[in-house]
Amino acid sequence: MLANSKYYQSIWFDESDPSVIRVIDQNRLPFFFEIKELRSVEDIYNAISDMTVRGAPLIGAAAAFGIYLATLEETSLSGHLGFLENAARYLISCRPTAVNLSRAVGYVMEKLKNEAEENARECALNAALEFCRQESENCRLIGEHGLSLIEEISKRKKGNPVNILTHCNAGWLASIDYGTATAPIYKAHLSGIPVHVWVDETRPRNQGSRLTAWELGQAGVPHTLITDNAGGHLMQHGMVDIVIIGSDRTSLNGDVANKIGTYLKALAAFDNNIPLYSAFPSSTFDFGIRDGLTEIPLEERDPEEVTHIEGLTGGKIEKVRICPDNTGSVNFAFDVTPARLITGLITEKGICKPHEKEIKKLFSEKIK
Ligand code: MRU
Repeated sequence: MLANSKYYQSIWFDESDPSVIRVIDQNRLPFFFEIKELRSVEDIYNAISDMTVRGAPLIGAAAAFGIYLATLEETSLSGHLGFLENAARYLISCRPTAVNLSRAVGYVMEKLKNEAEENARECALNAALEFCRQESENCRLIGEHGLSLIEEISKRKKGNPVNILTHCNAGWLASIDYGTATAPIYKAHLSGIPVHVWVDETRPRNQGSRLTAWELGQAGVPHTLITDNAGGHLMQHGMVDIVIIGSDRTSLNGDVANKIGTYLKALAAFDNNIPLYSAFPSSTFDFGIRDGLTEIPLEERDPEEVTHIEGLTGGKIEKVRICPDNTGSVNFAFDVTPARLITGLITEKGICKPHEKEIKKLFSEKIK
């Protein structure tokens, strides 16, 4: 997608320096557009942990490249598989909720399993590149499939703008290219369908106000920033036609773990009879889990993200405290929206109901 009128993906490998993986530093957006170079497993681990890169598909892609970088580290020259297995475990431990992380690492490790040590570098690099290519293509397909939903609403509204509410950042920054929830929006916009996006600020880290608003602005998509608590009010007053969110892990029965606050949006949408779709590539499915609510591990992050807020002041990104000194806080980063509140799942294979039977039908070849 375009950033400052130039085409970028949110992570890339450049043959001119094969010892480096480059990413857009998401901790600096929207104030500064900066590229960060990652040169080791440790760099990748830190970039995922401190949210330089974030979003389910992107942390998977970064970890896949992390295995490639591990093959470049000298210690990997003896007993390389054991060394790489340690690196894999280390990378998977970065963040617990998005299953894409272990899916991506597993993909690269599987390719390496039967590979001779001298081919490990090339094999890991090709596997990571192929994983990214597939993720990006799957997001493109999510856009194609999701477009039909927006088209239908647009026809019903006789060409008046389709109002879409989204939460957090499930855009191209989070997923290499196109985005998941944003893919149908970008596709509709490029097809000439008038759309308008309500962007939740998404406390505590504000991925909505900082990243989604920036992305949509770069693409010229009309949008308006709202507080996290405004969604229900907008829905009650007919100002939202459809809600499209991403997912960090979707269970076999269609429960969706996504950024904290998604559940409240889903309750409000359900109460107001507004369709809510979750868009994600199949790498986000955890077919081994049947009950998302009790089985999906949900990340808790540093309470300081709640007690403080970051913004631009005097040309510098600064953090300020927003509560009394001694106020305690807890930072639940994700919640689970039960399948019964979700209208449908938009995947690379098409749209399906969040029901085990339908999911199995669509993804039979991936479910053992
Ligand atoms: O904590 P984050 O910023 O990694 O959380 C991201 C989200 O919750 C996204 O909505 C999700 O990863 C869907 S990604 C395209």
